[in-house]
Amino acid sequence: MATMTAPTAEEKPVPGGNDVLVKFDEGIAWVHLNRPDKRNAMSVGLAREMNAVLDALEIDDRCKVIVLTGSGDAFSAGMDLKDFFRATDAISDVERHRAYRETRAWQWRTLMYYAKPTIAMVNGWCFGGAFTPLICCDLAIADEAAVFGLSEINWGIIPGGVVSKAISTLMGDREALYYVMTGEKFDGRRAKELGLVNEAVPADRLRERTRELALILAEKNPTVLRQARMAYKYAREMNWELAAEYLTAKGDQTTFVDVEKGRAQGMTQFLDEKTFKPGHGHYNRDAS
Ligand code: COA
Repeated sequence: MATMTAPTAEEKPVPGGNDVLVKFDEGIAWVHLNRPDKRNAMSVGLAREMNAVLDALEIDDRCKVIVLTGSGDAFSAGMDLKDFFRATDAISDVERHRAYRETRAWQWRTLMYYAKPTIAMVNGWCFGGAFTPLICCDLAIADEAAVFGLSEINWGIIPGGVVSKAISTLMGDREALYYVMTGEKFDGRRAKELGLVNEAVPADRLRERTRELALILAEKNPTVLRQARMAYKYAREMNWELAAEYLTAKGDQTTFVDVEKGRAQGMTQFLDEKTFKPGHGHYNRDAS
């Protein structure tokens, strides 16, 4: 019987296809929405590819952090209007349900609770439905000249998909309603003021600054990083009493599931060996 050998990193197939392009570098998976001719408008086909890509990257050792961005001069021009209006008007109710389910899966549920950290890198146009994956990534950095817009009011629809819910998690009501009701565009600097992105940087700094941030995340204890992200995201939906119970249990669970035993290492290095001070840096992850 032939013996099977595990493929090397170079031999492993790269997930993605026509509409989603993945490039690996330094533990970062750069995931490009890849319909530049259509300004990366998010079609049903793109949703299917993104679901497959996110599933694959979650268990791919070449990926410690995901950066979600767009090919060409757009992050994404939002939902593909042809696919989601013209085309879905003509198909059965079941097919329409399926199209929406597949879209929600990657844009919201999967990204929001993804096993690995995610950064949205907004490199250009960001409209309507694109706010959902932007907001469901953990962190975001924008080109300061990127153009954002909840344009829907200007042509007869309400903000696409779950955008109204998504913006309410990051923006204040006054600001969110202002842009929902006026459809006015804004740039990356304003997106930073609104809390939609962590930073807005000049275009020629965008990739490097995103890379720096991704590498910081790639260095962390991945189990504790995941637990900390999940704890924050679930606790914000709870009242104080439930959150207190949940977070205590989550802390205990983190100690239990952390194969690196980070807590024990940190304690030993701070309390016994006095080789590490939390206020001055990181514990030594390789010390065990
Ligand atoms: N859905 C479907 N197709 C889209 C699209 C969308 N959301 N956004 C752009 N496209 C298509 C255009 O129809 C055009 O296709 P064509 O070449 O077959 O004619 C192609 O992408 C290029 O777009 P174009 O408008 O020519 O590019 P531009 O650089 O002049 O303008 C935008 C870019 C993003 C400002 C403009 O395309 C736009 O306003 N898009 C719609 C944005 C929007 O309201 N999104 C909300 C959806 S929820």
